[in-house]
Amino acid sequence: MTPTIEPVTGTLGAEVRGVDLNAPLPTALGEALRAALAAHHVLFFRGQHLEIARQKQVTELFGPLLTLPYVVPMADEPQVIRVLKKAEERGGGVFGGNWHSDFSFLETPPVGSVLSAVTVPPYGGDTVWANMVAAYEALPAELKAAVEGRGAIHTGKPYGAAHAPPPDQRSGASIRMTRGDPEADRERVKPAVLTHPESGRRALFVNPTYTTRLEGLSEAASEPILAALYAHCIRPEFCCRYRWQAGDLVVWDNRTTMHYAVNDYDGFDRLLYRTAFAARPA
Ligand code: SIN
Repeated sequence: MTPTIEPVTGTLGAEVRGVDLNAPLPTALGEALRAALAAHHVLFFRGQHLEIARQKQVTELFGPLLTLPYVVPMADEPQVIRVLKKAEERGGGVFGGNWHSDFSFLETPPVGSVLSAVTVPPYGGDTVWANMVAAYEALPAELKAAVEGRGAIHTGKPYGAAHAPPPDQRSGASIRMTRGDPEADRERVKPAVLTHPESGRRALFVNPTYTTRLEGLSEAASEPILAALYAHCIRPEFCCRYRWQAGDLVVWDNRTTMHYAVNDYDGFDRLLYRTAFAARPA
């Protein structure tokens, strides 16, 4: 089973063809997929229809499975989150509905995540990823100078009290989260530009959901710089928008991308299962 890797944009994302993820998963396949992920940042597998147990095994091709805090997982599957919005949940926010890199505020954020689509709306509900390597490489000089060698402060804004989003922007009743946790308000400093350990490439590592300011600057002084960075990162040249079909599986590198769940499907159910992985042991 030799996968064919077809890039879907000039900078980000590739469709993996010729692979049945329900068939045995040889070591060489894991190696090929990890190399493809390091090269393309997001991998799309159409029509896989994986059971949850199989999704967990596929996730482990990329790294050890993680149990994440703050979002209540499935009752019998602590490492799996049901990303669900029901048809009747109208007019509110949605899980992941702003640009973010998953749980970037944690001491050790997941290095990657996996989504498997079970139910998708007849239209809408796409996910968009931005390539933070390409964005970094194309940064105007003054913005590069503003982040080079600098830290950025991250907190768990949606889960804490200090920066909690207004109720009408929170995701609906189908996803339960811990809110108002003082531990989520704790500030962690991360490099604003990280070096990917496998590819050696440099990526911007700031996002509007969890980054509050740049190290050494107030929130007010950071705001215009961060706003300019985000406007640059989400230019269409650095992005890839994915139209889901039931059965699709997508894997992304959380260190080199941000992503955004498009909330344009009120009146329809959408359900995906989500797993996350840590770095593989050296
Ligand atoms: C997420 O941020 O993981 C959710 C993405 C999506 O539902 O499209």
